[in-house]
Amino acid sequence: MRMQLPLVSLLPFLAASWAKPAPNDATTTSTAVTTSSSSTNVSSSSAVASTSSQTSVTSMPTSDSMSSTMPSCSMPATASGSTTSSTTAPQNTSLPAPVAYGYVASYHIEQADDLKHYPWSNYTHMSFFGTPAIDDETSLGLTSSESLVQELVSLAHQNNVKAMLTIGGYGNASMYFSSLMKADPDRNSYANLVTSYAFQHGFDGIDIDWEYPNYNKTPTYLYAKYDDTSNFLSFLKTLKSKASNLTLSAAAPGEPWLDMNQKPWTNMSEFASVLDYVVIMNYDRFGSWSPTAGPNAPLNDSCVANATQRQGSAVSSLKAWTDAGFPAQKLLLGVPAYGHGFPVAASNATTQAASDNSSSSIALYPAVDVSRMPLHGDKWDSPTLPGGTFSFQGLMDNGYLQLDGTPADGIVRAYDNCTATPYLWNNGTQVVVSYDDAESMKMKGEWVKQNGLAGFAMFEVAGDHENILLGAVKGGLH
Ligand SMILES: *[C@@H]1O[C@H](CO)[C@@H](O)[C@H](O)[C@H]1NC(C)=O
Ligand SMILES: *[C@@H]1O[C@H](CO)[C@@H](O)[C@H](O)[C@H]1NC(C)=O
Ligand SMILES: *[C@@H]1O[C@H](CO)[C@@H](O)[C@H](O)[C@H]1NC(C)=O
Ligand SMILES: *[C@@H]1O[C@H](CO)[C@@H](O)[C@H](O)[C@H]1NC(C)=O
Ligand SMILES: *[C@@H]1O[C@H](CO)[C@@H](O)[C@H](O)[C@H]1NC(C)=O
Ligand SMILES: *[C@@H]1O[C@H](CO)[C@@H](O)[C@H](O)[C@H]1NC(C)=O
Ligand SMILES: *[C@@H]1O[C@H](CO)[C@@H](O)[C@H](O)[C@H]1NC(C)=O
Ligand SMILES: *[C@@H]1O[C@H](CO)[C@@H](O)[C@H](O)[C@H]1NC(C)=O
Ligand SMILES: *[C@@H]1O[C@H](CO)[C@@H](O)[C@H](O)[C@H]1NC(C)=O
Ligand SMILES: *[C@@H]1O[C@H](CO)[C@@H](O)[C@H](O)[C@H]1NC(C)=O
Ligand SMILES: *[C@@H]1O[C@H](CO)[C@@H](O)[C@H](O)[C@H]1NC(C)=O
Ligand SMILES: *[C@@H]1O[C@H](CO)[C@@H](O)[C@H](O)[C@H]1NC(C)=O
Repeated sequence: MRMQLPLVSLLPFLAASWAKPAPNDATTTSTAVTTSSSSTNVSSSSAVASTSSQTSVTSMPTSDSMSSTMPSCSMPATASGSTTSSTTAPQNTSLPAPVAYGYVASYHIEQADDLKHYPWSNYTHMSFFGTPAIDDETSLGLTSSESLVQELVSLAHQNNVKAMLTIGGYGNASMYFSSLMKADPDRNSYANLVTSYAFQHGFDGIDIDWEYPNYNKTPTYLYAKYDDTSNFLSFLKTLKSKASNLTLSAAAPGEPWLDMNQKPWTNMSEFASVLDYVVIMNYDRFGSWSPTAGPNAPLNDSCVANATQRQGSAVSSLKAWTDAGFPAQKLLLGVPAYGHGFPVAASNATTQAASDNSSSSIALYPAVDVSRMPLHGDKWDSPTLPGGTFSFQGLMDNGYLQLDGTPADGIVRAYDNCTATPYLWNNGTQVVVSYDDAESMKMKGEWVKQNGLAGFAMFEVAGDHENILLGAVKGGLH
């Protein structure tokens, strides 16, 4: 059974996973994955990137979600037939280039100069994240400086990248969407505000990260008071009518947004008519709120034997959204440049591989050692409300990984083939980490391609190290 996600456990920077009621317990065996000595050796491609991940947290609790999601952007739909030519008009059958969407967490930027080190040329869209929806239809309430916003838009444009602005985030960062969008004239005023801000600052698109419409368990009291999801759709239509030249995206959980009875909408086609992209926040499926360790960002979960441990996945999300009539080619798979750490007793974390006494294994879904909660993660983890979160870079900084992304000395790595998730066991700190590395990212990229999604969305760009994760997911896509 899924534990309730206390707001306190959430980190400022994550988008979390959807706390949908877990199906009933089924039988499960205590599964284990066998260890492998190293991850796939993916060469770190770009010389640019990395220093961005050395920015340290400044704080600013904004986003986080209990559901997974991130937003996305738009792209031209498909190939168009060639018009002129005489006899055989050759069709342009090549598909649009995949969307490589990156979130830039404003609260991890210490100085505007940091932005110069982001791998701009490797993304198609960069979205500026960290603007809560505030209780005011006359002010957007950005906490970032004007010059930082200008720098971001300018760097994006210099690199032929679409500059997006994300509004919202987990919990309180979204709490006023409900009233802002409930009816005109507020709804119209808010659409005017967002549009004029974007126009004035040269943004190419808007990304709404409402976590979550009608979700009555969000620890704020404003949700599901009105019909949030219907009002959200009306807002997006209004926004589209005012900003038809902008890309519109939304971050979303693994299932379509809820109706007032807490049931996912079954027909998302009208949303598809106004949104260029929906980012499926397929992360935070397990985290500090979970009773056991488990995969942060499972690619699949229908292969998980114990139904209670199925907390959604890329596979289940794609099915849920497309079953509701939202086209795969407007979906972006949200992928995390971070993992979740869990304190686990050594006797619970490791198992002896049945067939090979020489190699130990990491148990899947071991019980969390509650006596060591909360667990402190890396420097971006909240000092006051730690959630055991480590960025990919943070796993390197804290001795879990080497700079090439492979396990550090004394760290055991295992890979769960069902969820396509690597795990680390640190016997020194007695911590299990589920995360993403080059191997799992490549599989996600391949899956995105095989299933005809528009692309992926990385949360967050600065969590990567030397583009190891980015290169892997793109490698899978191409
Ligand atoms: C299934 O998972 C739940 C949650 O971790 C656990 O409580 C339960 O014991 C598991 N069931 C089996 C049969 O292992
Ligand atoms: C990764 O590949 C590079 C180039 O082939 C090689 O120099 C390096 O030793 C490899 N690293 C690991 C950990 O295998
Ligand atoms: C074909 O379509 C792709 C994707 O829309 C585009 O990038 C490419 O430039 C087009 N090629 C031609 C010859 O029009
Ligand atoms: C969120 O807002 C509620 C209601 O205003 C407040 O009680 C709570 O402290 C806020 N939580 C955080 C983490 O700021
Ligand atoms: C969109 O159109 C508005 C109004 O014409 C204009 O001010 C803005 O610069 C345009 N933005 C983009 C990205 O085309
Ligand atoms: C979904 O809604 C659209 C627009 O309202 C409608 O045209 C379509 O028939 C609906 N699809 C289903 C399966 O009900
Ligand atoms: C997910 O798991 C199911 C059940 O084992 C399997 O049929 C399916 O092929 C898997 N899909 C992926 C993408 O791994
Ligand atoms: C593993 O250990 C058991 C008990 O010590 C022993 O019987 C078995 O032969 C060992 N297996 C291997 C593959 O070494
Ligand atoms: C080890 O796992 C068992 C069963 O899952 C659990 O009851 C126990 O509390 C765990 N031990 C520690 C120290 O976490
Ligand atoms: C996991 O999958 C890889 C290929 O992706 C395969 O080489 C390996 O044998 C599999 N491991 C298990 C335990 O099934
Ligand atoms: C794991 O750490 C414990 C101390 O916490 C130590 O006694 C044990 O030898 C270590 N095991 C390995 C395999 O390093
Ligand atoms: C990033 O872009 C640079 C050049 O702009 C290129 O050399 C490198 O291969 C790219 N890396 C990735 C991971 O896309």
